[in-house]
Amino acid sequence: MTNRILRWGLLSTARINRSLIPPLRASPRNRLIGVASRDPAKAEAYAREWNIERAFGSYEAMLASPDIDVVYISLPNRLHAEWTIKALRAGKHVLCEKPLATRVEDVDAIAAAAAEAGRVVAEAFMYRHHPQTLRVKSLIERGAIGEVRLARGAFTFTLTDRANVRMNADLDGGSVWDVGCYPISYARTMIGAEPVEAFGMQFVGPSGVDEAFIGTLRFGEDAYAQFDCGFRAPFRMHMEIVGSEGLIVIPRPFKPTALEAIYIGKASDQLESLTIEGPDLLYLGEVEDMANAILDGAAPRISLRDSRANVAAILALLRSAREGRPVPV
Ligand SMILES: NC(=O)c1ccc[n+]([C@@H]2O[C@H](COP(=O)([O-])OP(=O)(O)OC[C@H]3O[C@@H](n4cnc5c(N)ncnc54)[C@H](OP(=O)(O)O)[C@@H]3O)[C@@H](O)[C@H]2O)c1
Repeated sequence: MTNRILRWGLLSTARINRSLIPPLRASPRNRLIGVASRDPAKAEAYAREWNIERAFGSYEAMLASPDIDVVYISLPNRLHAEWTIKALRAGKHVLCEKPLATRVEDVDAIAAAAAEAGRVVAEAFMYRHHPQTLRVKSLIERGAIGEVRLARGAFTFTLTDRANVRMNADLDGGSVWDVGCYPISYARTMIGAEPVEAFGMQFVGPSGVDEAFIGTLRFGEDAYAQFDCGFRAPFRMHMEIVGSEGLIVIPRPFKPTALEAIYIGKASDQLESLTIEGPDLLYLGEVEDMANAILDGAAPRISLRDSRANVAAILALLRSAREGRPVPV
């Protein structure tokens, strides 16, 4: 343990930053110092609005600053790998938004840059740190539902704004990279293995990105994941984990609140609820995990190997949908 406090910088003025700012302020070993934007005036205005000490007029200026230890990358998907690598090479630790990268080779390049720089990098899948997720995983590991045979889930919401980065094919938008990544990550985590085969179907809108997607993943001989995701349905999320001897239903798997209920039983007419308490701030877990990794040398909860496998599964699903046939992962 050390008393050092990590000094954080937000790399961009993205909308998602507002989820990180309160936990950075609430976490005793982390402190928010700066924000960077491509536009100096935007950085200044953002720093004033959110009461942030330093405004950097370019991303490069933040990376060159000796006053920043950790960079939070909240750029559009296509830019994640490039700026994660630049930040690592500048000696910064990095918490990068999901997806960490949109090519497997880029995850490998990130791993090489992190090893060379001796810095920590982790993908910001906040739900993985929440007590609800840890509880579901431990129930499965204790054999509470037998062998996991199926993980089924969804993450959708309505998006019509064509100017949103999620609708931009050149920035690797699309619903699988944006929200499908969650049920895929959840299924891999709970099945505890990696998929070997993928089959996907998609609706590609005028935007040129998948605006709705239905996917199946096969894990070995006898375990499957199925999910749907997209921008063309109301906000909904859920997961169901079906084992040989029971099932667990998780109504809010990806954005759990401070008090959640999950349902577990031998059959769907025998479910009992379990109440799980979590932090008031959902994103607190990921910033504290970074402090544990950087200051105490703990392994980040989300390893690069884990992120790489998620990226590989997504790429296989997208390829399958394009080719109209199942493909190996
Ligand atoms: N974990 C979660 O719960 C969660 C939730 C939402 C989003 N996310 C992730 O966070 C990332 C950002 O999403 P968001 O919705 O917050 O994005 P956003 O509001 O559109 O912000 C993206 C930021 O990136 C910067 N940028 C740099 N190059 C850009 C370009 N060519 N086009 C547009 N913006 C550019 C801009 O900042 P400057 O102009 O200041 O440079 C912009 O403010 C995505 O990867 C998304 O998957 C995660």
